[in-house]
Amino acid sequence: MTSPGPGFTRACALSDLTDGEALAVEVAGEPVALVRTEGEVFAIRDVCSHAEVPLSEGEIDGCTIECWLHGSRFDLRTGKPTGMPATEPVPVYPVRIDGGDVLVAPHPETTPHPETTTVES
Ligand code: FES
Repeated sequence: MTSPGPGFTRACALSDLTDGEALAVEVAGEPVALVRTEGEVFAIRDVCSHAEVPLSEGEIDGCTIECWLHGSRFDLRTGKPTGMPATEPVPVYPVRIDGGDVLVAPHPETTPHPETTTVES
């Protein structure tokens, strides 16, 4: 297998994913919901930003996933909520397909800005 690039870890086989359904996996210690929909595969942190329940148990509608508890929807491309009560985005992760494997780089795209970790002398 060729190197998928830094940070990418195999999450599952592409054949494990069913169109229009979410699959809960753990990638490098992160809970991740993988969703195959609209001809693409998306990875979103499997924790609602409103109350910590798994998003993977919710319904998929186009490029959104609905939280089963209170009904907020999150855009799978950006992680942003499209409706109340959730107001905070959920991290989304880059996905690559390598042959029959789904690879995810589970570092949040919404991490704090790197400059906040700079130590001033
Ligand atoms: S727990 Fe997800 S919307 Fe409330």
